[in-house]
Amino acid sequence: MSSAGAAASGAASAGAESVDWAALRAVALEAMEKAYVPYSKFPVGVAAIVDDGRVISGCNVENASYGLTLCAECTLVSSLTMTGGGKLVAFTCVDGHGNTLMPCGRCRQLLFEHSAEGMVLDTVSGFKTIDEVIPDAFGPRTLVAYREESLAE
Ligand code: THU
Repeated sequence: MSSAGAAASGAASAGAESVDWAALRAVALEAMEKAYVPYSKFPVGVAAIVDDGRVISGCNVENASYGLTLCAECTLVSSLTMTGGGKLVAFTCVDGHGNTLMPCGRCRQLLFEHSAEGMVLDTVSGFKTIDEVIPDAFGPRTLVAYREESLAE
């Protein structure tokens, strides 16, 4: 089985124990090798399992206009959308040495938008749910609640 296939098997319902994290990390490492990082020389690779069992990945893509850099999570979310959408159930992020990396704050927000309930992240301090890495998050439900409140006025 490919590393992507191994990572996905039995993972649609999330739960850290149902994910082949070694296989998912292997996908992230493969993605990290593709990073375009002439400025920071800090390659990042990410991989995730989608609720339909798809395995997707991403790498950072930098720009001479530094602030336009795309984090690896940005390319992962683009891939999610381009390959059929869905919700993320498991996620891992590695640096150029293969060490687990914590997604930056902006990318936690990006991941939150597309997370399945109880999405699990492999972090520097163990497996964490999306709600643990971005507590009380602003998100799609905030906007829906606001709209409903406005209609009721
Ligand atoms: N980076 C990511 O790709 N994801 C993160 O969550 C943290 C930072 C990238 C952006 C930039 O190309 C490099 O790491 C150094 O900041």
